[in-house]
Amino acid sequence: MIIGTVKEVKNNEFRVGLTPSSVKEYIHHGHSVLFEMNAGVNSGFSNEDYINAGAKMLKTASEVWNASEMIVKVKEPLESEFGYLREGLLLYTYLHLAANEPLTKALIESKTQSIAYETIELEDGSLPCLKPMSEVAGRLGAIEGAKYLEKPFGGSGVLISGVPGVDQAKVAIIGAGVVGENALKMLVGMGARVTVLDINLKKLTYLDDLYGNRIQTMYSSSDNIERCVKESDLVIGAVLLPGAKAPKLIKRSYYKDMRPGSVIVDVAIDQGGSTEVSKATYHDNPIYVVDGIIHYTVANMPGAVPRTSTIALNNATLKYGLLIADDGLDIAMNRSEPLKKGVNVYQGHCTCPGVCEAFDIPLMEI
Ligand SMILES: NC(=O)c1ccc[n+]([C@@H]2O[C@H](COP(=O)([O-])OP(=O)(O)OC[C@H]3O[C@@H](n4cnc5c(N)ncnc54)[C@H](O)[C@@H]3O)[C@@H](O)[C@H]2O)c1
Repeated sequence: MIIGTVKEVKNNEFRVGLTPSSVKEYIHHGHSVLFEMNAGVNSGFSNEDYINAGAKMLKTASEVWNASEMIVKVKEPLESEFGYLREGLLLYTYLHLAANEPLTKALIESKTQSIAYETIELEDGSLPCLKPMSEVAGRLGAIEGAKYLEKPFGGSGVLISGVPGVDQAKVAIIGAGVVGENALKMLVGMGARVTVLDINLKKLTYLDDLYGNRIQTMYSSSDNIERCVKESDLVIGAVLLPGAKAPKLIKRSYYKDMRPGSVIVDVAIDQGGSTEVSKATYHDNPIYVVDGIIHYTVANMPGAVPRTSTIALNNATLKYGLLIADDGLDIAMNRSEPLKKGVNVYQGHCTCPGVCEAFDIPLMEI
């Protein structure tokens, strides 16, 4: 199969669909790979890296789109890319169609065979191609939180670890999933005093077993959240209700009892955020202040560390991409139930229940 990867055109998106190492794997499996000149530069991969891996460089995105049988990307196609969609083309990328009617229509009308990273689902319900980005966001959230506590960034001037004779920062992590666990790992490493809140007692038990008395776990009742948030220098919002908006667990009324310059890193912002004043920000202006409290609410946190994120993403997506390339989509999706769940548009029909529901379009069972 001819596989292609192009430079992302979305504002501030620096990741790329294929690393040179993934290129080598596709070639090793007997496929050929095309890449748009400079596609990987923002992730730290030069044109030579791709050429040395065996890929062929083309000057423009349109040449790559037109000559490839499968395009491997990071973000959904933007309107400027809709013209490249065509019958039979395989598109393997994050799509998030339920929030994007124009793209859903464009994929259906063009009969582009569309596989979305975010709906590939394992038997236990976990989402292997979303997980690496949550890992990045959780770890980065801890770092950003520590940074914005610093006075020059407007913070309260608390050093996350404290020093001998001075208290460590108090941190509350709300939601002990992938983001929460990864933030916790970093914050414990940095020496913060962390309380983790979740409604899932199994997760709290697991973390309690893992960290013992180095952390505190707490059931996520509104009472406990209020108490913890008011006492905290840093709050990490990391809740997810699958398929729903994030609950507004952090009330504005708590802010007056927090130390001015305390920080809320609202990782769940891509689902609407966990505070009553949540609004998404971008990397070029990532924070805003409400009642003296700093809010960090970047909706694509992994974009700040594209090199790490691109490699982590490829580690998760390569396996399913190879299945498609080796066997063709029809056979591959019958061999792999997780991959089948990733198929969102097949032969001009919507095959993802969530997307069909969102736009009231008929579902095709595959
Ligand atoms: N901003 C970004 O760049 C970025 C990147 C990755 C993920 N995210 C978002 O971060 C959020 C968390 O993702 P995840 O991968 O960790 O999800 P996850 O499913 O692994 O974890 C979510 C956790 O929230 C818990 N939860 C549900 N309701 C709760 C409540 N009322 N109180 C406390 N905990 C509750 C669940 O029990 C679960 O443990 C999601 O909204 C995700 O979309 C954002």
